[in-house]
Amino acid sequence: MTSTYAVLSEGLEKRFGEVHALRGLDLAVAEGTVCGVLGPNGAGKTTAVRLLTTLLRPDAGSARVAGHDLVREAAAVRSRIAVTGQDTSIDGDLTGRQNLQLFGRLHRVRGPAGRTTELLDRFGLTEAADRPAATYSGGMRRRLDLAASLIRRPDVLFLDEPTTGLDPASRNLIWDAVRGLAAEGTTVLLTTQYLEEADRLAGDIVLVDRGRVAHTGSPAQLKALVGAHAEVVVAHPDVLTKAAAVLDRLTGGQPSFDHDRNAVGVVSKDPTLTLPLLVRALDSAGVPLLDASLRPPTLDDVFLRLTETDTTDEVKERAA
Ligand SMILES: Nc1ncnc2c1ncn2[C@@H]1O[C@H](COP(=O)(O)OP(=O)(O)O)[C@@H](O)[C@H]1O
Ligand SMILES: [Mg+2]
Repeated sequence: MTSTYAVLSEGLEKRFGEVHALRGLDLAVAEGTVCGVLGPNGAGKTTAVRLLTTLLRPDAGSARVAGHDLVREAAAVRSRIAVTGQDTSIDGDLTGRQNLQLFGRLHRVRGPAGRTTELLDRFGLTEAADRPAATYSGGMRRRLDLAASLIRRPDVLFLDEPTTGLDPASRNLIWDAVRGLAAEGTTVLLTTQYLEEADRLAGDIVLVDRGRVAHTGSPAQLKALVGAHAEVVVAHPDVLTKAAAVLDRLTGGQPSFDHDRNAVGVVSKDPTLTLPLLVRALDSAGVPLLDASLRPPTLDDVFLRLTETDTTDEVKERAA
């Protein structure tokens, strides 16, 4: 069983003093897939990556990565994986090409010159290859760092927020690279705060919230967890609250207002909501409607819905 998973973790926990960064993280990433670990700041994404790449030891739980036990066979795990974070390991005094050749020698890659040229090309760095890396933009350094981590063809690649803060051109090159790696059979686990990134790259998404997995599934499955996104535009600002009350009753969601447009929107908790139902309910409540729409949920909606549910539950718990 385990051999079909590139990453399989059970109950991983990590504390930093008072902070319980991971509270029992269960992950199952099938070989050759791209898994997007999605979560807000502080959710525990970086801690998870540091544990799974042997940079930190778990306080509890266990994991197998690339077929080896994370703790007992840490060296074997390290030999099969690569990790790229936001702090690059690039030497600014060396050129891009020299940096890659250095990594190639460190990892005893056969034919490092050819592999270097191939990677420089893949990451759009051919023209800049013979300039010192210190002259590179942030996006170019991030690309070079990713190229360096690929020099010895890892089985599992960990990317911690690979495109945070990058320009669109660098972001697209990194996205292409991830797709290319996946097509070659490399397993990729990437963390991101960007729903769009997870939607585009990952076959499976793991939603992490406060150190635990809140949901897992394909982008489509996650979207199916919530109903449609409903929005109505009313004729007068004074009826906006009334419209919101109807939406609240009908959908169970938390209305959000766009006062400039006299609009109120909600992500429905009820997947069976239809436009006629919505319009009839508002009409019989005497709300003068200018416009009403239902559109399929985006991953953003899913994210909002799930975090919103959590806080509501927490408030209820505290009130009880
Ligand atoms: N070395 C550390 N010392 C103390 N607290 C830490 C350390 N690393 C992370 N944390 C805390 O653990 C929690 C999870 O952090 P992190 O894994 O970096 O989240 P993410 O990458 O999802 O933003 C946060 O509350 C963070 O402040
Ligand atoms: Mg992080």
